[in-house]
Amino acid sequence: MEKTIDENKQGESLILDQKEGNTRKLFIESYGCAMNFSDSEIVASILSEQGFNTTQTLEDADLVLVNTCSIRDKAEQTVRKRLEKYNAVKRINPKMKVGVLGCMAERLKTKFLEEEKIVDLVVGPDAYKDLPNLLAEVDEGRDAINVILSKEETYGDIAPVRLNSNGVTAFVSITRGCDNMCTFCVVPFTRGRERSRDPQSIIEEVNDLWNKGYKEITLLGQNVDSYLWYGGGLKKDFVKASDMQKATAINFAQLLELCAKAQPKMRIRFSTSNPQDLTLDVIKTMAKFDNICKHIHLPVQSGSNRILKAMNRLHTREEYFELIDNIRAILPECAISQDLIAGFPTETEEDHQDTLSLMDYVKYNFGYMFTYSERPGTMAERKLEDDIPEAIKKRRLAEIVQKQREHSEIRTRDYLNTTVEVLIERESKKSDQQWSGRTSQNIVAVFPKAHYKVGDLVNVDVNDCTSATLIGEATGYSKDN
Ligand code: SAH
Ligand code: F3S
Repeated sequence: MEKTIDENKQGESLILDQKEGNTRKLFIESYGCAMNFSDSEIVASILSEQGFNTTQTLEDADLVLVNTCSIRDKAEQTVRKRLEKYNAVKRINPKMKVGVLGCMAERLKTKFLEEEKIVDLVVGPDAYKDLPNLLAEVDEGRDAINVILSKEETYGDIAPVRLNSNGVTAFVSITRGCDNMCTFCVVPFTRGRERSRDPQSIIEEVNDLWNKGYKEITLLGQNVDSYLWYGGGLKKDFVKASDMQKATAINFAQLLELCAKAQPKMRIRFSTSNPQDLTLDVIKTMAKFDNICKHIHLPVQSGSNRILKAMNRLHTREEYFELIDNIRAILPECAISQDLIAGFPTETEEDHQDTLSLMDYVKYNFGYMFTYSERPGTMAERKLEDDIPEAIKKRRLAEIVQKQREHSEIRTRDYLNTTVEVLIERESKKSDQQWSGRTSQNIVAVFPKAHYKVGDLVNVDVNDCTSATLIGEATGYSKDN
């Protein structure tokens, strides 16, 4: 694969993996979680072997693929709107083919072909290696579909084509699927059972990224902390593994250590941690290695024990506090962020107050907050009535968001008049005179460009802030640059 490096005016390098001799054009866009963005890079890699290079211009495309999200109804509506846009382009260019990938493909299956006449191709998250065959069908004028979920597929053998990359940060997926069955969540249905990727292929990808100039990776999974490699196979089948497989199995703390040691200057992040699976070993490994970033995304969903139980989250409020206390004791400088859901079925004002008081205890650095959206096929949809009126969900969400804003501000202000280490990722959206990057704690910092460039690790004196962003001045390269 030939690499072309396109230096744009600001000096930020945009790396596009384009294969020489490829004549067909692929327009691919992604919605939803980081895993979808990472999957699209795998898809682009598979299709580059089929004569496709990527294009940023929809109108130029021979094939348009949209990698979809089903997590909330709104996410699905967004995709439906994009399909309308593709339809308008297809009217001008009838040869253009349109495919739907990801969670909506898996959830709706053939319904997609019936409901959306412009869709030629429907491919679920575990079937991307079948794309060459499916495209052959489409080329012959037939609709094509593969939504079979797999017990083994991890795409560990595919080197992703990095899309829209800043050349500095990259995602590396380490697990697929989820076995947790939180009652509100559609992911176990759309992404199948949990399986882990061979650690050797993970380390090879990390090394390869470092050699290509990348400075930070994020290990990805729906539930990274339950990573477990014992030679392949489903997580739930580990009980049947041989003694040898059990003795040599690699868990998430060990994988984290392997990655940290393989590239001691590569910054390492991971997401997402389900509180029930985040172990003390992981926290201790984070403490042991400077290059493991000090940030844990720790979705809690609710502060009420009754609601946590109804959600099938396998921990209590008290156990969550214990985990927070352990993180604070072992990693005092660690940032913690949340996901929260307002208005889960049967949620009372008291339950909601429990969520607010949990937030007061933790004082998260930041978070992602949602109103409950009933998803077809989930346990909550089958067993519980979506009984909280929309207006109440919205009011509770607004209170949660307001509280988070206050906490973010307190947390961000803590960095005033300190020096933080920042990896420069891109130009600031607000000013072409400023760089934007993130601290180890995943807090965004902006500062004048001076002589620094994208990919530099610099020390920044923080002299101002907004509720979410540090503002300062770079005073030199970090010792680890
Ligand atoms: N694996 C992660 C979550 C993945 S989904 C975990 O351990 O929690 C990302 C977030 O979307 C969830 O944390 C949850 O807050 C939100 N979410 C998922 N399903 C939802 C639904 N039906 N309605 C509203 N928010 C939802
Ligand atoms: Fe969803 Fe719970 Fe898994 S939120 S992705 S079922 S951990």
